[in-house]
Amino acid sequence: MSTIDGGPDKRYVRQRVAQGSGILDLFERASLTADLRAVEDLLLERSRSRSELITAASIHTVRSGGKRLRAAMALLAAQLGSYQLSNVIHAAASAELIHAASLVHDDLVDQAARRRGRVTVHTRWDNDVALMVGDYFFALAAAEMSLSPDPRIITFYAAAVQTIVEGELSPVMQAEPAETALSQYFYKTGAKTAALFEAACKAGMAAGGGGDAQIAALGRYGFDVGIAFQIVDDVLDFTGDEDTLGKPAGNDLRQGTITLPLIYALESTGSPLLRAVIEQSAADESVIDAAIAEVLSAGGADAAMAEARRYIAQAIGNLDAFPNSLARQSLIDLTEFVVNRES
Ligand code: FPP
Ligand code: MG
Repeated sequence: MSTIDGGPDKRYVRQRVAQGSGILDLFERASLTADLRAVEDLLLERSRSRSELITAASIHTVRSGGKRLRAAMALLAAQLGSYQLSNVIHAAASAELIHAASLVHDDLVDQAARRRGRVTVHTRWDNDVALMVGDYFFALAAAEMSLSPDPRIITFYAAAVQTIVEGELSPVMQAEPAETALSQYFYKTGAKTAALFEAACKAGMAAGGGGDAQIAALGRYGFDVGIAFQIVDDVLDFTGDEDTLGKPAGNDLRQGTITLPLIYALESTGSPLLRAVIEQSAADESVIDAAIAEVLSAGGADAAMAEARRYIAQAIGNLDAFPNSLARQSLIDLTEFVVNRES
């Protein structure tokens, strides 16, 4: 998948361009393209360190892309109030820097070789560099927050980072009974993924001069979108393929990570094969393939997608209090992208 110099291979880039066109069209329709470009330029500018090594690894990370959904949501949330790019750009960049930091550290913890079709930082350099680059991004995020005009923004992101770390260290311990598994899964998902979407939306609304009730509404919107986003991520691990995802599919089962499609499949089948895979967590590839097929035929992925759509409907409900506008419609359209994405 990755080329020797760490660049993504051409097939992956072509697929990303084709799929990315959905979100890029949305950004264009939302008149966000230029402002997101400014966020991107800021991320690249901030990546230039006095250390050549940090600069190289940071630029490698920023250039490996991502959809910039969290930044876009911060900008759109600000547009629900009184919008000035200079008031929200630092809050939008903070979300992307925290996200980048968490992924560099996540790949280090998981010892993942690739993300988004690119070789990961700890693989291209080493574990120490990945640890330091993640820390460097956190420091950059803190610096951006300090430039945000509204002091509430730093509290939103500080709370989110605390929650992400707590969530990351809260495994889903058991797949059965479903009630226990679901409670652990939704706690973890809310903490490790949704908390940052929530903070980005709250920060954007605060930067747009929103009051407490508006900030709370945007926070709930972001949280619900974040849950849906992670559910789709977990579904794609069963339904996607490596070329499209830019990382190996089936990794969750391979690592014994219990996610929503598996919980639902086990609830409906009580399958001994699925139980065995969860217990062993290091089954051979043919067993993993059989387990994936079983989750799919049991409707585990479909049931999880239905749950993601319920969260999206709930997310959109939080926008009811805002008058119709291009920004509000774009926040609604963005939820469609979240549930329909293929990578
Ligand atoms: C990706 O999830 C990982 C996260 C959403 C959070 C990772 C957080 C940490 C490593 C803690 C350090 C971060 C902070 C903010 C202090 P995933 O592993 O399910 O998805 P993947 O398949 O894309 O890796
Ligand atoms: Mg991971």
